[in-house]
Amino acid sequence: MKFQKPKGTKDILPKDINKWHFAEKTVREVSALFNFSEIRTPTFEYTDLFNRGVGSETDIVGKEMYTFPDKGGDSITLRPEGTAPVMRAYVENSMSAEQPLHKLYYLTSMFRYERPQSGRYREHSQFGGEIIGSDSIYTDVELIMLAKEVYNRLGILNFKIKLNSIGKSDERKSYIETLREFLKSNINELSEESKKRFETNALRILDSKNPVDRKITEEAPKILDHLGSESRSRFDMVVNELTRLGINYEIDFRLVRGLDYYTDTTFEFISEDLGAQDAIGGGGRYDGLIELLGGKPTPGVGFGSGMERILMVAEKNGFEFPEPSKPKIYFIALNEDAKKTAFESMTELRKKNISCETDLLGRSFKAQMREANKLECLFVFIIGEEELKKNKGLLKTMSDGSQAEVEFNKIADYLK
Ligand code: HAM
Repeated sequence: MKFQKPKGTKDILPKDINKWHFAEKTVREVSALFNFSEIRTPTFEYTDLFNRGVGSETDIVGKEMYTFPDKGGDSITLRPEGTAPVMRAYVENSMSAEQPLHKLYYLTSMFRYERPQSGRYREHSQFGGEIIGSDSIYTDVELIMLAKEVYNRLGILNFKIKLNSIGKSDERKSYIETLREFLKSNINELSEESKKRFETNALRILDSKNPVDRKITEEAPKILDHLGSESRSRFDMVVNELTRLGINYEIDFRLVRGLDYYTDTTFEFISEDLGAQDAIGGGGRYDGLIELLGGKPTPGVGFGSGMERILMVAEKNGFEFPEPSKPKIYFIALNEDAKKTAFESMTELRKKNISCETDLLGRSFKAQMREANKLECLFVFIIGEEELKKNKGLLKTMSDGSQAEVEFNKIADYLK
C-alpha cells in the first residue's frame, strides 16, 4: 500500500532545502538587524483564543480551522495564524512588566483548511513580525521596512505595497452602516457570498474577487473619507513617512483584511509573479486585541508573510541561492582496516569542522573516485594496504591532480 501526503501539504526534499535554509537565515538575520527577538508559541491552542481573537465571522474561524477535541475533552485548534497566540503569550507571561515595548518575530507552520491551489497550502510556513506597546506611526513604517528588506535580500524587488486604514472600531461600525445603506439597492445582484456577508461582515464585500461585486463596490463610499480626524491624520502621517523614505505604495480602499482584530493601518505586499493568491504578506494594526484577550489596553501592529510564496517569487525572479555546502574531503578506503583508519581520521577532522565523506556502499576505487567528483570534494584521501604500512595516505588535490603522502593524523594541516 502506498501512502500519500495529506492534501495541501508538501514535502521539502534535500535538493530544495538550501533555498529554505537561505530564506530562513535571511529572515533571522534581518529580524536581528531590526532588533526583533524570536518568540515561539505552541503549535496548538485552545480554540476559544481564535474564536475571540480572530473573530467568529472570519473565514479563518468559520471555515478553515483544524479543530478537534483532545482526549481530555478540550477543544484544540492547530494555529491558523500567529498574532492571537503571540498576544496570548504576551498577556499570560506579563511581558509588559519586563519592558514597555516588544519587537517580536516568528517563523513557523500555520494550518488552514483551505482549497489548495498554487501558493495556497493547508500547512504553510509563515514569517511574522509584531511590535507591541507603541502606537507611534514609526512602528507601522518599521514593519513595512522589515518585510521589504527580507524581500529585497531574496531578490524580490518588484512588489506592490497596498495601504489602507480601517480606522477605530466605532468609526468602522458607522462606516459599515453607510456601506450597507449604499449596497442595499444592489443587494440582489451581489454574489451569494457577499449577500451572506451583507448581514455578518459587510466590510469584506469590498475585497470580493467577484467582478459584479467589484463593479458595484467601485462606486461605494470610501472608508478613508469616513474616518475621524485623528485616524485620518494618523494614516496621512504613515503615508508621508513612507513617501519621505522613498517607499512606493498604493492606497487601496478594498484592503480591509480578513481578520477582525485590525484597526487603523492595513497593508499588503502584492506580487504579480504569484497567481490568484498574490499576497506575499499582509498585516496591520490591532490596537484592541490585547485588551480583548484580557490584557491592559496595549497598541500593536504586525504582519505575516508566507515563506512558500516568498520562495516562489524569488525563484521566478531567478534569484541565485547559494549552493549547498559539499564535503571538503572524500576518503577512499580500499579494505576493512583502511576503513577503520579512515573513520579515525574523519572523527578528528569533523571535530575541527572539516566536512568529510567516505563510501558506505562497498564501491570500487573507480566508483568512489566518481562519487568524490560528483560531490565536488576539493580533496580525496586514499588509504590502501601500502598506505597502512607506511602510516601515510595519499592526499589528492582535485583542482590540479597533485598528490602528497600525508600522515593520518596530519591531514588537517594540508587542507588550508
Ligand atoms: P494573513 O494575511 O492571513 O495574515 O496571512 C499572512 C500571509 O501568510 C499571507 O499574505 C500569505 O503570504 C501567507 N498565507 C496565508 N495563508 C496561506 C496559505 N494557506 N498558504 C500559503 N500561504 C499563506 C495573518 O495571518 C496575520 N496574522 C498577519 C498579521 C500579523 N497581522 C498582524 N500581525
